[in-house]
Amino acid sequence: MKALVKIGKWIGGIVLSLAVILLIAYFFITNNINQRTATKHSFATETIDIPRDSSIVKRGEHLAVIKGCIECHGEKLDGKIMMDDPALGRLVAANLTKGKGGLPADYSTADWLTALRHGVDRNGRPLLFMPSHETTLLSKQDLQAIIVYCQQVPAADHVVPASKLGPVVNVMAYLDKMPLLSVEKIDHKLPIVASADTTEGIAQGKYLSISCSGCHKPTLKGGEPVAPGMPPVPDLTRTGHVGKWTQAQFIHTLRTGKTPSGHQINNDNMPWKMTAQYSEKELASLYQYFQTIQ
Ligand code: HEC
Ligand code: HEC
Repeated sequence: MKALVKIGKWIGGIVLSLAVILLIAYFFITNNINQRTATKHSFATETIDIPRDSSIVKRGEHLAVIKGCIECHGEKLDGKIMMDDPALGRLVAANLTKGKGGLPADYSTADWLTALRHGVDRNGRPLLFMPSHETTLLSKQDLQAIIVYCQQVPAADHVVPASKLGPVVNVMAYLDKMPLLSVEKIDHKLPIVASADTTEGIAQGKYLSISCSGCHKPTLKGGEPVAPGMPPVPDLTRTGHVGKWTQAQFIHTLRTGKTPSGHQINNDNMPWKMTAQYSEKELASLYQYFQTIQ
């Protein structure tokens, strides 16, 4: 009996110490993330000319769709609560119009570039969950088109609450399993890409695949789920299922969310409603690029 009490106390002691260690680790992590999200950054101001031409606006609209601006910022770009959950927290994409709750009236082209190229707002505050590590790699023409499109979207009054990070996001961001702070991932010295290939083929596919690499990993070989509770991310190269598909099967999958084996992909896990809006040529280029990776 005495021995049992002793073991009991011993186990209790271990559990208590573990709880204390976890609590300390959690405080450390929260503190670290709070500090990093509050750190101001400063970058040389850049600007580009904004050609206001209807064909460029149209191209910008297409890019706003396929680059997910609409998916996150909402159909009218007036901001969206992307997620609100006790574990993950509340993640809010900004109202990008000049309406109430939106961007300041004097938000300039240089401010747009600061956000898209450096991942901070015009005061140098890090943007949370804004994939600027991807938009920073857009070509000058594409940046121009996106900015010109966004700037002419009608003002919409929509006041959105601030983001508030939950414990799971804090821990995942600390372990670098979630792209919370794109400002830390960007090579800020890289100049704007002068132009990108717009003809069908491997070069265009490689350029477009930047939008897939956040989830399918920079190697495009997939891996762990992007967030707890989500399916693992598949390999898009020759070594995955896609490597055995024809180009037509690949395009059909990205248009319908249904794979050749009949699996229906959930849009919340893989944004196929967004890939459905890529042009035939863009999807063909992606396929051709993936086929070059062993
Ligand atoms: C994965 C979701 C996501 C995608 C995709 C996305 N954004 Fe964002 N964006 C956000 C979030 C969240 C914020 C708010 C960040 C903050 O305030 O901390 C933001 C902020 C911004 C801001 C900064 C506004 C300011 O306060 O200065 C701009 C500009 C912007 N986004 C433009 C775009 C454009 C253009 C695209 C498409 C090329 C895009 N975003 C795609 C999530 C996204
Ligand atoms: C937000 C994360 C995310 C992004 C962005 C994303 N994917 Fe996916 N993708 C997934 C996940 C998760 C799955 C697995 C879904 C499932 O198993 O139901 C998947 C599945 C796929 C599949 C099916 C593969 C198979 O073996 O069944 C293809 C093809 C694919 N994605 C292509 C792309 C392409 C091309 C892009 C970029 C244009 C892209 N994905 C962007 C997360 C993403």
